[in-house]
Amino acid sequence: MEKIAIASDHAGSELKEDIKLFLKENGFDVLDMGSSGNKSVDYPDYGIPVAEKVSRGAFEKGILICGTGIGMSIVANKFANVRAALVNDVYSARMAKEHNDANILVIGGRIAGKGLAREMVKTWLDAKFEGGRHQRRLDKIKEIEKGMKK
Ligand code: RB5
Repeated sequence: MEKIAIASDHAGSELKEDIKLFLKENGFDVLDMGSSGNKSVDYPDYGIPVAEKVSRGAFEKGILICGTGIGMSIVANKFANVRAALVNDVYSARMAKEHNDANILVIGGRIAGKGLAREMVKTWLDAKFEGGRHQRRLDKIKEIEKGMKK
């Protein structure tokens, strides 16, 4: 069973619950790293544990949600080996995998509705990295990562 780690802040917890359900229905083993409910929390406290797991290779993929998705994507991309893509449309969700090999999908919980979010998650999960010239570009990004936090 493919494993996937998911987390959100308060602005994304409702959407997180729905995506979790969707992933479980589709046969994924989901690790929910919080938060739950509407109590105001700080998104780095929830984004960091998921990004760390993906960075170290404990999890191949993660999903992060905050209000806009911006905060979570800033946090996640501080970690080596993490390619976090903030997407709020299906085309970007597909490109995030095909061109960027994104291993963390970030969604704006105050932007995307549940239907769109499910569609974006499915599209990202089904897409395949195209490699080739895109790998060359990722290799250039990898160079920047030397000395970054893991
Ligand atoms: C919380 O109000 C909000 O700032 C947060 O969810 C996120 O959008 C930050 O980027």
